[in-house]
Amino acid sequence: MSKKKPASVEAVEREHIGLRAEMVSIHDCLHGNISSEEFSEWRLKFMWQMRDFKNRLLKHFDLEEEGGFMNDVISAAPHSERQVAGLKEEHNAISSSLDSILAKLKAMAEHNVESLEGIRTDLAGVFAVLREHENTEHQLMQRAFYREYGGPE
Ligand SMILES: [Fe+2]
Repeated sequence: MSKKKPASVEAVEREHIGLRAEMVSIHDCLHGNISSEEFSEWRLKFMWQMRDFKNRLLKHFDLEEEGGFMNDVISAAPHSERQVAGLKEEHNAISSSLDSILAKLKAMAEHNVESLEGIRTDLAGVFAVLREHENTEHQLMQRAFYREYGGPE
């Protein structure tokens, strides 16, 4: 069995870097100064940013699920099959959480400090789950492909 890192794994690693940068940008947009006068404009821009992020994330999940990554991890490290199945399930949960944030944004027709605070809390929760999720994927990749080289490249 080859332990060489396959292209599917490299593609996932590259996307994780891009997703992390986008998460920082979304966080900054939600924690900036949001005035009542510019609220509608801000909300539309932020909603689109969130929709783009969700779509990008769903494509990333497709890549992991259908692009060979999960199968490559399982064939290199068969004992990780249950953990990989758990990650797949978590994809659906993360997607639903983003949908519920988008629904709250859509329902907030006017600037509302409490609703905004709620959205900040929700987003921090989803991002914490997502970061933890990706850390787990990294650990899996390292265990499956790097062990014989003594650590990540
Ligand atoms: Fe991922």
